[in-house]
Amino acid sequence: QTTALAAGSIGKDGYRHFMEKELHEHPLVIGQTLQRMVDPASRRVFLPDMPFDLATVPRAVITACGSAFYAGMVGRYWLEAIARLPVDIDVASEMRYRNPPLTEGSLGLLISQSGETADTLAALRSLRQKAIHILSVLNVEHSTMARESDSVLGTVAGPEISVASTKAFTAQLTVLACLTIATARARGMLDALAEEELVAALLDLPSRAAEVFTQGAAIRRLAGVVAEARDVLYLGRGSMFPIAMEGALKLKEISYIHAEAYAAGEMKHGPISLIDRTVPIVASVPYTPLFDKTLSNLQEAKARGGRLLVFTDTKGADRVSAIAEDMVVLPHVHDFVAPILQTIPVQMLAYEVAVLKGTDVDQPRNLAKSVTVE
Ligand code: AGP
Repeated sequence: QTTALAAGSIGKDGYRHFMEKELHEHPLVIGQTLQRMVDPASRRVFLPDMPFDLATVPRAVITACGSAFYAGMVGRYWLEAIARLPVDIDVASEMRYRNPPLTEGSLGLLISQSGETADTLAALRSLRQKAIHILSVLNVEHSTMARESDSVLGTVAGPEISVASTKAFTAQLTVLACLTIATARARGMLDALAEEELVAALLDLPSRAAEVFTQGAAIRRLAGVVAEARDVLYLGRGSMFPIAMEGALKLKEISYIHAEAYAAGEMKHGPISLIDRTVPIVASVPYTPLFDKTLSNLQEAKARGGRLLVFTDTKGADRVSAIAEDMVVLPHVHDFVAPILQTIPVQMLAYEVAVLKGTDVDQPRNLAKSVTVE
């Protein structure tokens, strides 16, 4: 299977679109990316040598564009919560002009599938002027950003042809999860037992990810509802908020349906006024410590006539089914890796909606795979 991902051997392999093929590669690329960074026997993360010490970095500044930025948002959540590392994050087109004050020795963390995105490259160059370490998470390892970084952590996603990013995103999350574990250990925030637990959760992911594809019929049911809508609201909390943003972006990108993502708890501060039967609510609500809070936000939406379409897991399913109009039940995984698993169905939903709408899935209008202009 590894050779199927080698550059040059690019065909749809019987899938209708490259996006569909690449969605099905999630389990494989998560596994391949982990193979580079995890020793399954000792259940420890081993990153390549880097010319700086993760233990003494005072702060990380994360920047990227589009989906890669959402991966960065999950990364911030993990680095703050698990490694207790202060993190600043912004989209690259803003970061490059922001001139944030930086403590000496801060880490610039750039994320890009292509390594050629003009805004991200410009942000890299502006961070470099502040003499901080530049670490990039890249899929194309011989790219301009790779050449201009102090260190590179590679995502082993193989060539991604579809303009809408899918497998590169979960591979980025996988790398950021490993970086979080290594940083937490270096900073004395994670003992061996806790590291083993998180690594075990990561190692479990490829097979759990493969199980998501058994939910195709349920996802197509949801797609039937979403495809009829003019506007869709995506909700999530904590590390699931960036996944809601990823779902909304993917839907906009390939189906041309307007979608907004909100942190579920923020809805009452404005967007709740939008809710009626015509605006479906797609919520990512696995059984994590934020499950109850998110569910009560969904109840508020339901009380106002909202149609709830919910991605949950086997532990949350009973309680979700009491309020949802429809739901997709995924395998339950450790909270840490839940955002990685929950990405797959929101991307699949956007794909199925685009297929129903008959759009050009792999080459959506006005978009380029790699945006090399400002
Ligand atoms: C995602 O589906 C998009 N096509 C887009 O947001 C993309 O993630 C962004 O342009 C960043 O690209 P990069 O990862 O190659 O830097």
